[in-house]
Amino acid sequence: MSGSRAIPLCDINLSFQQLETEILQAVERVIVSGQLINGPDVKLLENGLAAYCGVNAAVGCASGTDALSLAIHALDIGPGDEVILPPYTFFATVGSVIRAGATPIFADIDPASYNIDPLQVENCITKKTKAIIAVHLYGQCADMEPLWRIAERHDLPIIEDAAQSLGAEYQGKRAGSLGAIGCLSFYPSKNLGGMGDAGACVTNDPDWARKMEILRGHGMDPKYYHKTMGWNARIDTIQAAILRVKLPYLDQWIAGRRNVASRYDALIQDFHLTDYLEKPKALPKRLHSYNQYVVRVANGERDALIQHFKAQKIGCEVYYPLPLHLQECLIHLGYGPGDFPASEEAARSTMALPMFPELGAADQARVIGTVADFVRMRHRLAA
Ligand SMILES: Cc1ncc(COP(=O)(O)O)c(C=O)c1O
Repeated sequence: MSGSRAIPLCDINLSFQQLETEILQAVERVIVSGQLINGPDVKLLENGLAAYCGVNAAVGCASGTDALSLAIHALDIGPGDEVILPPYTFFATVGSVIRAGATPIFADIDPASYNIDPLQVENCITKKTKAIIAVHLYGQCADMEPLWRIAERHDLPIIEDAAQSLGAEYQGKRAGSLGAIGCLSFYPSKNLGGMGDAGACVTNDPDWARKMEILRGHGMDPKYYHKTMGWNARIDTIQAAILRVKLPYLDQWIAGRRNVASRYDALIQDFHLTDYLEKPKALPKRLHSYNQYVVRVANGERDALIQHFKAQKIGCEVYYPLPLHLQECLIHLGYGPGDFPASEEAARSTMALPMFPELGAADQARVIGTVADFVRMRHRLAA
């Protein structure tokens, strides 16, 4: 098999090829118009995103990271405040809290979903708690119902980090519409990927939407009169124009991802690997949008399996090898190994398999066949 061609973890060029003419026309239109900052493309994208997520307003911004920062600033979270979030997520989730001067308080994940465990959240609430960030990891929504109850009891807003989960649903409602403010990323490999960095916040609250609009433009309202301490977090107009072309295809791409996920599920079964690879659990009342297909590898063999994938030119990734509470730059928070066992275990034993809407059945059979070969090889060596 070593002569076989490479299977990438993700192939962002395929969606470009599908829409090449429309995308290039949109880019040309923006350049020729001279409206390179803000303008109708940004507004129209925002309207499209708000309608898609089922909320009243969307505010485009420069990245998912800025979306989180805008949400935190709009909610007046700052020094002296605490924000509860999982330690098993991309760094941007915690970075936005710390850069606002607030203190992150970690609550461990549920090992079945990799999302924040509501029971742990309850234990973290203090008088200083100002918000909960629910990260919808890998494309599946967090367990919102118990989180809603906690938030209501303590009068706390929930910020959704939906960077990986645009198009995912919980009880028939889309990610981004399940909390106070939803934060989206259009990083190229996301379900809706730009051709560079971009992001957005979605909300039902017109005051927060207006505040985030002002914050993303240096806090100006009107021009050159600075109401509040903002920064430049604007979405690039070219990105907005490209995303407008792509948004109508999002559901079709998510259906493609779900199809790929079902095929992996069936292949893991067919190759008798269910004891070796733990499939992602698509939980009830949710629609998983599979930004990633993440498996748990048995017997502490994850890293060896990754080496085998590399040798076979099959893409894979570890999201994330070191939970946030153990990151060097966060040591001052005072956490240590063993504090969040479910996050630490996930960091040790999980890996993402190739996942993109266009991934074909034959390539998927090769991916899972490669795992089966590896398992046979290990058994022979052990015998
Ligand atoms: C869970 C999560 N939050 C936030 C972000 C930040 O998004 P961006 O890369 O657009 O800044 C990402 C992106 O990888 C993410 O996966």
